[in-house]
Amino acid sequence: MSRGSTPRPPAISTKHPARLTRRVFLFPSLERRTVDHFINIYSHLAREYHDMIAMEDADGNVLAAIEQAAPLRGKRVLDIGSGTGRLPLLLAPYAAQVVALDLHRDMLTQHAAQRKRARGTWPLVQGDMRRLPFPAGWADVVTAGWAIGHLRGWYADDWKTHIGMVLNEMQRAAAPGGTLIIFETLTTGSLTPAPPTEELAAYYAWLEMDWGFARQAFRTDYQFAGVEEAVAHTEFFFGPELAAKIRENGWARLPEWTGMWLKRAA
Ligand SMILES: C[S@@+](CC[C@H](N)C(=O)[O-])C[C@H]1O[C@@H](n2cnc3c(N)ncnc32)[C@H](O)[C@@H]1O
Repeated sequence: MSRGSTPRPPAISTKHPARLTRRVFLFPSLERRTVDHFINIYSHLAREYHDMIAMEDADGNVLAAIEQAAPLRGKRVLDIGSGTGRLPLLLAPYAAQVVALDLHRDMLTQHAAQRKRARGTWPLVQGDMRRLPFPAGWADVVTAGWAIGHLRGWYADDWKTHIGMVLNEMQRAAAPGGTLIIFETLTTGSLTPAPPTEELAAYYAWLEMDWGFARQAFRTDYQFAGVEEAVAHTEFFFGPELAAKIRENGWARLPEWTGMWLKRAA
């Protein structure tokens, strides 16, 4: 396929790549969550996921950070681990072309509904971010929002192999001089930025030391109408500890820090 054509969806794999029984310590609710906690959400609760993240980044810092890193006008953007469309919904009005890839059908179904509401037309591809079905150099900007970090927990023993596959694929899909952008959590429900777990800290350090990504941090607070709405929208994902903290602090505005890791493609 030439750089000018639209990527086609690959054959759909029904087998999830992660082992379903491993317990991981992935998100900042301080509770151990099973792998299938997140796979269950991405397989069956995409609507609830979208209702939650629609309240995130109340100050619009994500778009501002991307625009500063890589002005989008005239650019081709590939968003991997795209979920229900958070980044395409933000970027499509500015970029020349956006293509979104995710592994889970329910996320893509919700993504399609959100795309329709936004009158968007970007292609959705069901696929694995470790094997991107796109030609080398297709994208000017490759984004991965809050997705790669899952592989740190799902593949505790060989996470560098799996995350390395994604990073190599991001580099391959990007045009020379293009921009690679990764977003990951620096903790939800905290007033200071920090990796929520030692495991994620190791992954973030690896991105910086071994892969040459540069990190910046900014707030992506959620804004809810009230404290109970904050709990209702977030507990299914982050667990009861965060719910308790929200109530304790009376947080209708739930503080969150996000990291953006940036690298130019060779
Ligand atoms: C926390 S959600 C982030 C979704 C979206 N980027 C956002 O910002 O809301 C993580 C996403 O990664 C996707 N994902 C997990 N493993 C994947 C893989 N191997 N390939 C592609 N997507 C994957 C999940 O289906 C889910 O949609």
